[in-house]
Amino acid sequence: MNADAGIAQGLALVSRDEDGVDIAFRAQVLAGLGQRQKAIPARWFYDEAGSQLFEAITELPEYYPTRTEVHILEAHCADMGSAIGPGRAVVEFGSGSSMKTPLVLRCIDPAAYVPIDISGDFLRASAAALAADFPGLAVVPVEADFTRPVLLPPGVSDLPKLGFFPGSTIGNMVPPSAVDLLRSMRGTLGHDAMLLIGMDRIKDPAVLVAAYDDAAGTTGAFNLNLASRINRELGGTIPVDALHHEARWNDTLARIEMHLVAARDIAFTVAGKDFTMATGESIHTENSHKFDARSAATLLLAGGWSPRETWTDVDGLFSVILADASEARMAP
Ligand code: AVI
Repeated sequence: MNADAGIAQGLALVSRDEDGVDIAFRAQVLAGLGQRQKAIPARWFYDEAGSQLFEAITELPEYYPTRTEVHILEAHCADMGSAIGPGRAVVEFGSGSSMKTPLVLRCIDPAAYVPIDISGDFLRASAAALAADFPGLAVVPVEADFTRPVLLPPGVSDLPKLGFFPGSTIGNMVPPSAVDLLRSMRGTLGHDAMLLIGMDRIKDPAVLVAAYDDAAGTTGAFNLNLASRINRELGGTIPVDALHHEARWNDTLARIEMHLVAARDIAFTVAGKDFTMATGESIHTENSHKFDARSAATLLLAGGWSPRETWTDVDGLFSVILADASEARMAP
């Protein structure tokens, strides 16, 4: 499971029918292909091939978010340490390979580390590797879908928490879902919690489009793999060679959209249902919202978090925001 895509799905906690088909995958694909603007939720990118392609994306020269966020965490370690203080249980949502976690743990003298991920085997392996690097730290993995409220284990439930949600995965959600998730995290973490969250910034659309449509074609392969996955897992007949990847900047909604666009008129079936696409018609596969200081603050406040500190890189490409669960004074 990839490190950034906390919404990734794994083998555990998945309901399958008697043929082994992921029931939610089939239902969401069929519903999405039946809409006027065809759309499939981005969580379905992350099968094994998709997770590997995402790892490759994070190393692309055009894809600045991962290396920039790592740089911010390294450069502002001491400031983050004093703003957060010692003795917190760090709860990472969609921990994946916990790649960025050591950068935070080293700065804050934590009391425990609680990685939450839906992929149990992967979670336990990453947790064991991290525990070996931090002898003496209580590492308590929790296999759960973090998009819902999570009951934390008794040993850590009394400790003050720091939620950690890097990668700007929050940007993959439309605002109502992002607010629901932030509220659910607040419920999971408790009233004295803090949240350290990565949020990608609005910038020159050319830079953004290049980050999601790289010259090597890796993001295109990542997007097209979704169509191949539908063919593999849902008995689909989508002519993948008739689709091409497109990354569009939607300036009104401040987001990059990824689409699979039909290069010619096509007809195909998925799970026994018929679909057509006219030339130029698309399947909308991902949103990646970008933020400025105000829109980031508004989203966090709507989710029950008061922004306290923001760290960015010198070029202002990416931000890491520390918020707390105290009530913001919003009344006049
Ligand atoms: C996981 N997520 C934060 C990535 C992003 O940048 O929105 C997913 C991604 N899609 C294409 N490239 C990267």
